[in-house]
Amino acid sequence: MKVLMVSPEIAPLAKTGGLADAVGALARALVDLGSEVTLVMPAYRTVLENVSPLQETGIEVEVPIAGRSVRGVILRTRVGERLPAFLIRADSYFLRDGLYGNPQGDYADNAERFVFFCKATLELARRTAPWDVLHCHDWQTALVPVLRKVHGQLYSEIQETKALFTVHNLAHQGNFPFSVWDLLGLEMQYFTPRYLEFYGNINLLKGGILFADAMTTVSKKYASEIRTPEWGCGLDGVIRDREKDLYGILNGVDYQEWNPETDPDIKKKYQAKNLIGKKFCKKDLQEIYGLPDKASIPLVGVVSRLVDQKGLDILNEAVEDLMHLDLQLVILGAGDQRYQALLDGLPGRYPEKVGVRIGFDNALAHKIEAGADIFLMPSKFEPCGLNQMYSLKYGTIPVVRATGGLDDTIEDYNPLSASGNGFKFSGYSGPTLLEAVKRAITLYVNKPAWRRLMAGAMACDFSWEKSANEYLALYQKLIERGGPH
Ligand code: ADP
Ligand code: GLC
Repeated sequence: MKVLMVSPEIAPLAKTGGLADAVGALARALVDLGSEVTLVMPAYRTVLENVSPLQETGIEVEVPIAGRSVRGVILRTRVGERLPAFLIRADSYFLRDGLYGNPQGDYADNAERFVFFCKATLELARRTAPWDVLHCHDWQTALVPVLRKVHGQLYSEIQETKALFTVHNLAHQGNFPFSVWDLLGLEMQYFTPRYLEFYGNINLLKGGILFADAMTTVSKKYASEIRTPEWGCGLDGVIRDREKDLYGILNGVDYQEWNPETDPDIKKKYQAKNLIGKKFCKKDLQEIYGLPDKASIPLVGVVSRLVDQKGLDILNEAVEDLMHLDLQLVILGAGDQRYQALLDGLPGRYPEKVGVRIGFDNALAHKIEAGADIFLMPSKFEPCGLNQMYSLKYGTIPVVRATGGLDDTIEDYNPLSASGNGFKFSGYSGPTLLEAVKRAITLYVNKPAWRRLMAGAMACDFSWEKSANEYLALYQKLIERGGPH
């Protein structure tokens, strides 16, 4: 199986969130299963400065953008031993500090940057064909399936190739004003509600959903949620129309990256059989955050993009009450300034109880997974969520809202049967969040019960192999089906 895996971010090359982890780990898992996978991503500044070896391929692509021709230079690198990657270099678009924007907001020319990325990818795919599957991720790649089909004569070499589109988050749709329509190079008939038009704007994600051979999203629950008006972000009708080609495949965990037995970022490694190391990790975390070094107090961790999706408003609603409980709270996050400001004020008010770090810090994210006792994810919606699965592996018990992938992966603790691997709440509110945290810290003082819960959590297996096999089966199905959808 020859797969070209196209994504705006892929770990370890460039990352802002779970998308990068998911795509990087899926690609490695597919390689382990015997597929030939090649990655495609923009050559951002962070790539040019940090990735090595970076080699020239001698391939250059000329891409038409609104009547101009823009050149992209194709570089090549390798992730590990067996995973090659093409990096599309166009410095006027990608040689910037952020992937999609800066703290003030998204880059104003994101439409142009990612239209270019899609067209350059298609040109590259054509020139390096044959491919069995073009697997595209999120709105930044959505034009790949669209243009491949609509302008088939330009891309004859990849007409037999199947295009799979994975939506990691339906809330990000690549919505742009009609004024940038010329960038796409599509005929006006495609700016209609049947195709890419969406309430007067261009909606790239909608194009990807309509023109791919099939669509997946990252958990079964989310795949059913997005068919409803409540969670369909305006696209539920489009999704229902394509229902028979929609699949929910849960993300996995890359246990080479997220494993307390081998993690180089944590103070002391540990495993289910011997948890002493976790105590050192907790102490270290308390020290990093300047909190009192208390072994017996439950330490709650949060690592999150600071955006509406993540439930920070209900955390804020509950925070006063949380502070009356016997717990400590450490937070790591980056994102909207509104939330940064809310969180930044907390340590001043509760210096003994709360620590906040604003910024993106991968090593600290690992230290929180290892050092905390409880991991809090009160998301309003969550297509999959990775941190709750990482937490399980670190014996850090998740407290989550029952939505999307959080609902699929976390089973609420039942004190009667001692079953479950975390704590779950349903209503989206401060009081329901508080109630779940209270249940967790109440159990925490019952040491034998808590240890059993930890052991069960650490034994959960969310490795990628099963999900990668599901993707492989889907690729196979599309190939066998043949013809256009
Ligand atoms: P999402 O992709 O919606 O942000 P996920 O739970 O799927 O949510 O993935 C989040 C990933 O990003 C995890 O690997 C998490 O550790 C990481 N992450 C999020 N915020 C930060 C941060 N401020 N610093 C370091 N890592 C972060
Ligand atoms: C998105 C979603 C998150 C998911 C990740 C990887 O960022 O918000 O829930 O885990 O993609 O698929």
